[in-house]
Amino acid sequence: MSLETSVSQKIVGNLAVAGCSEEESERAQGATSRPSSTVSIGVIGYGYWGPQIVRNFSGIDGCQVAIVSDKSTEALRRMRQAYPGIDVTSDAGDILSSSSIDAVAVVTPVWTHFALAKTALENGKHVFVEKPFTSTVAQAEALIELAEKRNLQIMVDHTFLFTGAVKKIHELISAGSLGNLYYYDSTRVNLGLFQHDVNVIWDLAPHDLSIMDHLITKEAEAIVATGEKHLNGYEDVAYITVYCPGRTIAHINVNWLSPVKVRTTLIGGEKKMLIWNDLEAYEKVKVYDRGVNIRNEEGVYQLLVSYRSGDMWAPQVEQTEALKSEAAYFVECVTKNQRPFNDGIAGHRVVKMLEAADQSLKERGRIVRL
Ligand SMILES: NC(=O)c1ccc[n+]([C@@H]2O[C@H](COP(=O)([O-])OP(=O)(O)OC[C@H]3O[C@@H](n4cnc5c(N)ncnc54)[C@H](O)[C@@H]3O)[C@@H](O)[C@H]2O)c1
Repeated sequence: MSLETSVSQKIVGNLAVAGCSEEESERAQGATSRPSSTVSIGVIGYGYWGPQIVRNFSGIDGCQVAIVSDKSTEALRRMRQAYPGIDVTSDAGDILSSSSIDAVAVVTPVWTHFALAKTALENGKHVFVEKPFTSTVAQAEALIELAEKRNLQIMVDHTFLFTGAVKKIHELISAGSLGNLYYYDSTRVNLGLFQHDVNVIWDLAPHDLSIMDHLITKEAEAIVATGEKHLNGYEDVAYITVYCPGRTIAHINVNWLSPVKVRTTLIGGEKKMLIWNDLEAYEKVKVYDRGVNIRNEEGVYQLLVSYRSGDMWAPQVEQTEALKSEAAYFVECVTKNQRPFNDGIAGHRVVKMLEAADQSLKERGRIVRL
């Protein structure tokens, strides 16, 4: 007997023993195993990222991972070994149709996000969906509309927004410490992991685009993207330029063919500048009191340039695991029925930039207005 068969028989078997309808049985199971205030979560997808989601949601007060689904027998075997107390199923439908599940985490490849999230919302469940939110802008819009209609929450897993470094940078920018922003420049390169269904932009750039969108807070106006395919038919090296209002410009370099891993972001403002090196264990963020002042004095046909070269300081950065904070925030948003800041609309902005980047890429760097 295959594991898939045994898993689905296990679920059906439990119902048969209880001698009641599927819905009644599930309600009864939920009622005995958790307090009514606990958010019951079903996770779909236990590949590379799914185990992180299960681990982090499992450790959150007020929430319970009730069941995990994956199509792969091997994934289910790993899951049962790690969490013998959590149910598993090969059929995501068991989660999507269960009346005892309050929220669904969609941790599958991007091309599956829309259908799974749509069914979850149609069945009255809140949705935590991986980045990138959807494959197209139209899909993102449909999910946002559906969630609004049903008064349900969507959270898009833009994990980096919950890191101590991004929280600190956001705090500095919001407090005006950097002044008007000139540029955002990030490098996210390493050797692999090659994806078989998306290019390097859809794989890696959602991180940078979501961070940039969160920090700059001005909706992007236009995008230029260039890149090249070398190995498997998808672009593996790409450069994205994003034009934002107020002459803030962003540049994002993503690459699966780099001999070394680099995770560095430079942000330049008129008052201060900073560098964030995510690979540093300590002093991830360094703020420089450096800049350039230019005066064009009346009557003087020459620019007066002065360079400011002040102190550097490394602010304290919170060390909590980002996904743990994000999981707790999701549970809080569901419990209080409050809209997260990384909601479907934030996910939509990122997908809009990804779609525009793809279009620009195809036309070898044509500027695409957003
Ligand atoms: N937030 C982050 O930092 C981060 C990091 C890595 C991946 N991700 C995202 O997580 C998602 C999954 O990525 P991954 O690297 O884990 O992929 P993966 O291919 O390793 O795993 C996906 C799993 O989903 C399963 N699956 C697919 N369709 C299914 C269905 N209908 N029902 C049940 N199971 C199904 C597959 O069998 C597979 O085990 C992607 O959207 C990716 O972009 C996010």
